[in-house]
Amino acid sequence: MRATVLLWSVVCVTWSAAWALKLGSFNIQVFGERKAADKFVMSYLAKILAGYDIVLIMEIRDKTDDSIYKLIRLIKTQENVEMVMKLSDREGRTDSKEQYAYLYRADRGISAIDVYKDNSQSWWKLFERPPYIVRFCSDKAEVGDFTLVGLHSKPLSAVQELQALPQVYNSVSKDWNTTNIVILGDLNADCHYVSKNKWKVIPIRNDKRFWWPIVEGEDTTVESNCAYDRFIIGGKALKNAVVTKSPGPYYYNITYGLKHQQTLEISDHFPIQLQMQQNKNKGRRTSQCSGRATRHRG
Ligand SMILES: *[C@@H]1O[C@H](CO)[C@@H](O)[C@H](O)[C@H]1NC(C)=O
Ligand SMILES: *[C@@H]1O[C@H](CO)[C@@H](O)[C@H](O)[C@H]1NC(C)=O
Repeated sequence: MRATVLLWSVVCVTWSAAWALKLGSFNIQVFGERKAADKFVMSYLAKILAGYDIVLIMEIRDKTDDSIYKLIRLIKTQENVEMVMKLSDREGRTDSKEQYAYLYRADRGISAIDVYKDNSQSWWKLFERPPYIVRFCSDKAEVGDFTLVGLHSKPLSAVQELQALPQVYNSVSKDWNTTNIVILGDLNADCHYVSKNKWKVIPIRNDKRFWWPIVEGEDTTVESNCAYDRFIIGGKALKNAVVTKSPGPYYYNITYGLKHQQTLEISDHFPIQLQMQQNKNKGRRTSQCSGRATRHRG
């Protein structure tokens, strides 16, 4: 009896010390029927995505929603991980439409509580695909109420879209009364889309309210050497809650011993990721997510 209790407490302490909310962002280059039919690609996507508590997926291109639901089912059957989804509208100013999705672990106390969808905002039209903005709650994370602003920018408009981001931040921050905001995604924020001399005309890069944990010169892609994928973290509380050295690209090619060509079949981007600390009461929280402002026009 005593041994069992002791064992249990060891297990619990180990678990609670290790847990941190793992957030990812992954541009799965043209995710649609072709990739959904590819067993190799699907199997690795399932492995990679199952490692996150919340992950933003970009470039879903599928006239039906079959591919993404097939992937969620595979994550369940292959990895034994149950992920819940928030899926955006089909976005894009041309015929080429894309969807964003957030997959997240409801079984780990994470919930999506609101979507910010307001096409009357002046900034809405400044994007090829308006950002997908979802407010999340976690009963275990140090910052238990935070908003994710997912963006896949248009490469040739990367500078203009980066310039528009403070307006998005200000609207969300004001309407939801929060500074706990992470802008994330494939922002095409490097190399020829945003060259060195452009950064001085991109205020959000030099604004003290924001922290960019992935910087120019890092490599988030398979073929080039560019930091296209970024996190932009607003608010002191969130910044302080990010586990030291956790942000960066995830080179899963190393984890799984994949060759260059195999990695490229999965996507031309690597995921980026970071971890957020657990709250000090080890997951016991009562009211952090109780105040639910809503704004859902569109
Ligand atoms: C906004 O948030 C702050 C800090 O979290 C809180 O003190 C304040 O009461 C909130 N204001 C409103 C109008 O909810
Ligand atoms: C994995 O990809 C990175 C980034 O492209 C590359 O630098 C590294 O050599 C690759 N590792 C292996 C083992 O293929």
